Amino acid sequence: MFRYLFADCYPRWVDIAEKNIEEILIDHAFCEQKAASSCISLIVHYPQLEKLVEVLTPVVTEEWGHFRMVLKEMKKRNIALTQKRKDDYVLQLLTLERKNGTPNQRLMDKLLINALIEARSCERFRLLSLHIADENLKSFYHELMISEANHYVNFIELAKEYSPKQEVEKRFEEMLEAEASILQNLEIRKDRVH
Ligand SMILES: [Fe+2]
Ligand SMILES: [Fe+2]
Repeated sequence: MFRYLFADCYPRWVDIAEKNIEEILIDHAFCEQKAASSCISLIVHYPQLEKLVEVLTPVVTEEWGHFRMVLKEMKKRNIALTQKRKDDYVLQLLTLERKNGTPNQRLMDKLLINALIEARSCERFRLLSLHIADENLKSFYHELMISEANHYVNFIELAKEYSPKQEVEKRFEEMLEAEASILQNLEIRKDRVH
């Protein structure tokens, strides 16, 4: 479905993440918040795009549902949300949008950046669902992995709805390359989903 990157780093990340599950849950809650608000922002910017509004409106509800699910897991463990924090991974991905591009290219970039974030979240949740010791969190992350994989497909299909398929595929390849170097330059953070 999407390219797996730095496979050798991932077992290390799960190991680190499991020891810091409180921090991971807090970061995860923020990720779900951002996912919902990013969909809302697309709907607000492109109300004339019927398909986009139709596809993303239920995704907002799902992402907000995920946020509530993470909050519930946090409450069980007496963990509270902290102050909002900077997400270096997402901030750097956002710079990939072609600011001087045509309106269509900019829409394509926005959709593909969202697809990338969904793909990475899915990948991390898959690892947690496979390797984490806590049985409840295992099934929790399994369920979320499936949902984020569907969102990845939603964003790719929307990009293809508004731009030629070959252009979308070429641009996504370029973005995967750019993301690879972003990830390479980001340290593996014990407290972050990405
Ligand atoms: Fe989500
Ligand atoms: Fe998602």
